[in-house]
Amino acid sequence: MDHELIERIKNLKRYHNAVILAHNYQRGEIQDIADFVGDSLELSQRAARTDADVIVFCGVHFMAETAAILSPEKKVLLPDIEAGCPMADMITLEELKEAKKEFPDAVVVCYVNSSAQIKAESDVCCTSSNAVKVMRAYKGRRIIFVPDRYLGQYVSEATGQELILWPGYCATHSWIGPEDIRKLKRQYPGVPVVVHPECRPEVRAMADAVLSTGGICRFASEQDFTSLIVGTETGILHRLRKENPSKRFIPASRNAVCPNMKRTTLRKVARCLERLEPEITVPQEIRRKAKKALDAMLALT
Ligand code: 13P
Ligand code: SF4
Repeated sequence: MDHELIERIKNLKRYHNAVILAHNYQRGEIQDIADFVGDSLELSQRAARTDADVIVFCGVHFMAETAAILSPEKKVLLPDIEAGCPMADMITLEELKEAKKEFPDAVVVCYVNSSAQIKAESDVCCTSSNAVKVMRAYKGRRIIFVPDRYLGQYVSEATGQELILWPGYCATHSWIGPEDIRKLKRQYPGVPVVVHPECRPEVRAMADAVLSTGGICRFASEQDFTSLIVGTETGILHRLRKENPSKRFIPASRNAVCPNMKRTTLRKVARCLERLEPEITVPQEIRRKAKKALDAMLALT
């Protein structure tokens, strides 16, 4: 059955000159059919320079929207229109406008996990892999950082810059608790721990490295270890195990599953390539302003 679906996807992809981009948290079978698997920054860079006519974005809504902002001449498809990011929805345009009124001299840095409207109201975007670099470029300025307070706290500690933080967070990463790490450290003494910066600060404090999903994949292939405790969404384990068959990867919590990332299935990918929908588009004026914030980020990375 899967074999038939995969053949259908391959044929449709060729017919439409389409490329399949998948985030590191996607189901294993989706990662396996993708042309490229990566983190948010890598995927937006790929989307900006692909010469395909159609981009099938296997991820969540803000990721497909980012691709549509960067490549307006391409058709960007999201296999399940309901695949959103609850953290991205934790700030509204009105709320951001209010914050800007309160701090009119502040630079607004928004995590790429945000809507096109929020990006359009921001000066620059960042992802978890370049947030420290982006923030350093604004040293000495007052900065409003939205919407992830935990990524914000991490960057603030790493750079020594004080940030005005928004109270957003990722519920999936919040499933990982310090007691999970403590238990695994007892069970596997000496095994290193890597976590994503969306984790709670008390979890981050127990880690050997704090990295984006792409950073975790590089760490896994470059560093010398036999086992690694991984504190992020469990979809990444598929790629880690596939690329490093001789190493052992232990999830910090089996509960860290993003239900939105899991909405994408082979059947939905095939269907969206057949119908060329759901298509993600961004109104021209919002797109122009949001692109400025994304370009400002890409220029720094
Ligand atoms: P990365 O940019 O590290 O891939 O993270 C994206 C994300 O949504 C994490 O929850
Ligand atoms: Fe959003 Fe968290 Fe899912 Fe990432 S893991 S897409 S931040 S809900």
